[in-house]
Order: sequence, then C-alpha cells, then structure tokens
Amino acid sequence: MRKFTAREINHLVKHGFDPHAEYPAEIPIEYITNKVEFFEFDFFVDSNVLIPRPETEQIVQLALKFASDRKKVTFCDIGTGSGAIGLTFASELQKRKFQFSGILSDSSQNALQITAQNAKSLNLNKIVETSIDQFVQNSESNSQLFFLKSDLFKKYPKRIVFDLILANLPYIPSPRMKNLQKSVKDFEPKKALDGGKDGLDLIRKLLKQAPKFLKNEGIIILEVDDTHTKEVFGSQIPNYANWNLQALQDENGKQRFWKLTKKVSQN
Ligand SMILES: C[S@@+](CC[C@H](N)C(=O)[O-])C[C@H]1O[C@@H](n2cnc3c(N)ncnc32)[C@H](O)[C@@H]1O
Repeated sequence: MRKFTAREINHLVKHGFDPHAEYPAEIPIEYITNKVEFFEFDFFVDSNVLIPRPETEQIVQLALKFASDRKKVTFCDIGTGSGAIGLTFASELQKRKFQFSGILSDSSQNALQITAQNAKSLNLNKIVETSIDQFVQNSESNSQLFFLKSDLFKKYPKRIVFDLILANLPYIPSPRMKNLQKSVKDFEPKKALDGGKDGLDLIRKLLKQAPKFLKNEGIIILEVDDTHTKEVFGSQIPNYANWNLQALQDENGKQRFWKLTKKVSQN
C-alpha cells in the first residue's frame, strides 16, 4: 500500500478520501481529490492543468501591491491553467472593491474549461464576458473577466493595453525534464512544464510581444526557473534598456520571479 506523508493524509481526509485505500503509485494527491488549496481557495485540478504551487501565490501578492494605490486595474494572466493566479487576483480585488478588467488566457482549451469551472466556485462567473467585443466595450465601466484561447498574445485584440501582465509559463529547461520526480513528469501536462532548451523559449517570445500590450509604467511579473539569474535572464530580454528589472526570490531563497517595469513608450 502507498505510504502518504502527514500533509498528504490531511489533504485526503479533508476532501473525504480514505488514505488507506489503494491509489496508483506516484499520482499526486491533488489529482486524486481534484483539489488544491491556493491562497485559501480550493481550486479544481485534473491532469489537464498544472497543480498550482505555493510559491506562485507570491505573484498574486506582488500584483496586489501594485494595484493597491490604483484601485482600478487592467491585467492579463498568460498561461492561466487552473486560473490560480488570475482568478485569485480578481477575487482579492473584488474583496477590496477595486475595479478590474482581466483576460485569462491559455493555449489549451481543456485548461480553459477548468479556469471557467474555478471561476464559478469563486463566484466570479457572473462577471465573465461572453465575447471579446463585449469585454473591450465594457473595459472602462464594470469589473469583468474574459477567458481566451490564445498562443501567448496571438489572439489578443490589438487595441488592448494592460497595467499588469502576469505569467507563470512553462520554464523547465528541456534537458532537465527527464530528471523531474515521477509524480510530476508522469502526471502533470508536459506543455505546462517544458520551456525549451534553456527554459526561456516562451518567456523570450512573450517579452517580444508584450510591449504593445503594456501601458508605460506597467509591469510584467514572471515566474522563472531558479537558473534564470540576471546573467541568464538579462541577456535574453529584447530591448533591455527599455525595462527596469527587479529579481525576486521565493520563500526558499531561490531566484524565482522577475518584475519588469516598462520605462518608456516601446513598440
Ligand atoms: C506552468 S503552467 C502554469 C499554470 C498556472 N498559471 C499556475 O501558475 O498554476 C503553464 C501554462 O501555460 C500554458 N501554455 C503553454 N504554452 C502556452 C502558450 N504558447 N500560450 C499560452 N499558454 C501556454 C499551459 O497550457 C499551462 O496551462
């Protein structure tokens, strides 16, 4: 029989599962219960989406800090998966009675179905627009969200500009994929993990496309691999001089996030 850790037993019991029952070896418990706690919310997850990690909550904290002196914010969450970042951020903005307009996008339609399911459990479904045209029209008036199937910014309307771009894209360097724990590499979606040769394939593309969609003084918050230090990451940024860069560590002291502030008008 599979031996669970105390944390895993608590998780199974909390969600009504018997820790003594038979489960496939190595399957993450979050895919057994279809639940993961993120920022105090229970998100639905299955094998179509990455299991959100605790360190990713820091992106929401950083975004809330940025929003706090504005009270009105436009944002997108690229590679939203379960919606953990974008939906949590929206929910916290709603609690604070801030006005917001957010697009949550992913290249996977299956993932977006889960985003929509989680929006419903967080009671955000009422503010989800049914068409992108409607979303663009209402941007100035109501708090609203839209879920968009898009390869990075490809399907984003050209005239939209955001205060904040949030993204936890796949960032594991391909050569390291084979060394991942079995629970990750055999169960979590490869396209949520594999970031190409150096782990920066999608991030490089995103940074190339992003300036058009970001207001001046707007920011991008990215989660990255701990090998994406200033030397590695800095050398990959198109038009480096146009950005102010801030490196941030996770709670284990590892390089984990990059905050990029747009200095001047870029195209
Ligand atoms: C590391 S997961 C992050 C999921 C979620 N944001 C989180 O933090 O838990 C990366 C997500 O990016 C999506 N993705 C991969 N390639 C993409 C692309 N070219 N455009 C948009 N999304 C992409 C994957 O489907 C996956 O949902």
